[in-house]
Amino acid sequence: MLLLSACQKSSETDSTEARAASKARVEASIDGLDVLRSTLARQVDDPEAVDQSTFAEVCKPVGQRAQALAQEHGWTVQQLAARNRNPAHTLDDEARAAYERFEEDPDLKRVWHEDTVLDGTSGQRFFQRITVEETCLACHGPEENRPDFVKDGYPNDRAYGFEPGDLRGLYAVFVPDSLFATAQP
Ligand code: HEC
Repeated sequence: MLLLSACQKSSETDSTEARAASKARVEASIDGLDVLRSTLARQVDDPEAVDQSTFAEVCKPVGQRAQALAQEHGWTVQQLAARNRNPAHTLDDEARAAYERFEEDPDLKRVWHEDTVLDGTSGQRFFQRITVEETCLACHGPEENRPDFVKDGYPNDRAYGFEPGDLRGLYAVFVPDSLFATAQP
């Protein structure tokens, strides 16, 4: 009896640890994505020089890295916003609720929605705030200052007029339960 409860306790501890490790893996990956964007954005010091051909498109490579992470881990990785540039980046209902929490509480950086469902699959969903920095303004500042590749490429653009410190949007990561709390390299 004693042995049994000891065993149960240790498997509970294992699963708590495995869950914590899964969460930590998601959080570290998203921090990496955010650092990538900040680093690329810092390389754009001359907005006049930014055009379609420069490597400094900043947010497209971030989107590509997000898709690579998704493929590598079996997650869904999105960048969503209320005022979005790419029409594919609109908030779903759950993401909107998280966005509103970030809006209300500027100190809230990240939040997990546990035991949720995305497109019929149950899992765990993570949201992290994306904050506007000075270097973002080259492309997300005043409407008329946006580079031509943005004006031409995104006719329904709503992602301008931001100030440093503003909430720009959020990262959303969905981990299906079949992959959550399982050992991964
Ligand atoms: C060189 C121009 C440029 C700079 C600088 C830039 N962005 Fe972007 N941003 C874009 C483009 C273009 C898109 C649309 C990318 C796509 O089609 O996926 C975008 C999209 C985004 C998105 C996805 C949501 C949406 O609106 O589609 C977020 C979030 C974002 N940017 C945040 C930032 C932040 C934060 C910074 C500064 C650290 C920044 N951007 C700097 C050009 C830029």
